[in-house]
Amino acid sequence: MKILSVVGARPNFMKIAPFIRAIGRHNVSAEVPVEHVLVHTGQHYDDRMSMAFFNDLGIPPADINLEVGSGTHAEQVGNTMIAFEKVLLEYRPDWVVVVGDVNATLACSVTAAKEGVRCCHIEAGLRSGDLGMPEEINRLVTDRLSTLLLTPDESSSENLRREGTEEKRIRFVGNIMIDTLDANMERAAALDISDIISRNIFDSSSGQAAVGEGDDYALMTLHRPSNVDDPAALRSIAAFVRDEVSRHIPLLWSLHPRTVKMLRDAGLLGGLARHRRLILLSPLAYHDMLKLNMHARIMLTDSGGLQEECCVLGTPFLTLRPNTERPVTLTEYGGTGVLTGNDIAVVREAYRKVLDFKRKPFRPPLWDGNTAARCLEAILS
Ligand code: UD1
Repeated sequence: MKILSVVGARPNFMKIAPFIRAIGRHNVSAEVPVEHVLVHTGQHYDDRMSMAFFNDLGIPPADINLEVGSGTHAEQVGNTMIAFEKVLLEYRPDWVVVVGDVNATLACSVTAAKEGVRCCHIEAGLRSGDLGMPEEINRLVTDRLSTLLLTPDESSSENLRREGTEEKRIRFVGNIMIDTLDANMERAAALDISDIISRNIFDSSSGQAAVGEGDDYALMTLHRPSNVDDPAALRSIAAFVRDEVSRHIPLLWSLHPRTVKMLRDAGLLGGLARHRRLILLSPLAYHDMLKLNMHARIMLTDSGGLQEECCVLGTPFLTLRPNTERPVTLTEYGGTGVLTGNDIAVVREAYRKVLDFKRKPFRPPLWDGNTAARCLEAILS
């Protein structure tokens, strides 16, 4: 059996790492080993967005890098399809495995379907219902075309059934990202918070306040086009965290490259970087982010993966989006998160409420650290 799996962008790496390990474990005793080929589309290419995760999570170097880089959606998807088709024709795998909802996921599942190669989607069935999000388009198309749909929770399986998906294509396996979280908690716990900050400080000339072990702090990430590509939205969020949150507790803001560019274009970056209690950080490595998340008083984010990690760690969080494809992480379902969108009056009210929450770890069913083995078993069977 030959499996070719695909990664492209940062949130894919923590999903593929445990899957590759599961193949390794299977091959130790298997009569017929699984042959595995790893393809990186090259959508994310900066060391901090890509290579650092390969090194830290023990992912073997990609066998093939398509080097598609940045561009418009059509450019990224089109260039990936053209390059990936050649790979499929050369390697002829039995299965293509795609994860998550980035442009690489869409491009490679469409190409596999057109070449008649079976495709397995890990993290299938998530739905925000918001077609304004590029990821929602990617999820819908990938799930419609994939042979095998491995879901992280029962509500995702239900979404697929509601769309008329045949039962035999759906398998509830749990959340593969939590395999990575569990495997890396110990290493992250051993890190030192002030050391993480000094290694990742965005602008070392700016004399920011010291934050260390045992201190209260808020943590933020932002990269969705709806928050960062709209200058008015970005300006109001930046003003809220600068003038309100950081007055109250220091705020650590890990900056995605897209956000840096937008803050710079909006003329906001210099002012924020000079603020003592608003501490700007470069994109964080996996263990650095995990450690900061383990001790944060509150997380403000628009990342889906961080919502899930906050839920399992028990970190109270605000999702600065009007909807989520991961409802299972919200307080209504036992999680620790509140959806706010980016209207600052709503964010402010939720921020005050959530600050009083106690850390309350919550694991939805099958978020147990053993999802990768179930994914492989589903493919092999
Ligand atoms: C992509 C995913 C998104 C995911 C996010 C995590 C899609 C549609 N979006 O969004 O779902 O949550 O990754 O990061 O696939 N850039 C760099 N260095 C890099 C990569 C990007 O500087 O290594 C900059 C470029 O200016 C680029 C911009 O970031 O144009 C955006 O990158 P892109 O891959 O288009 O989308 P993300 O916003 O990262």
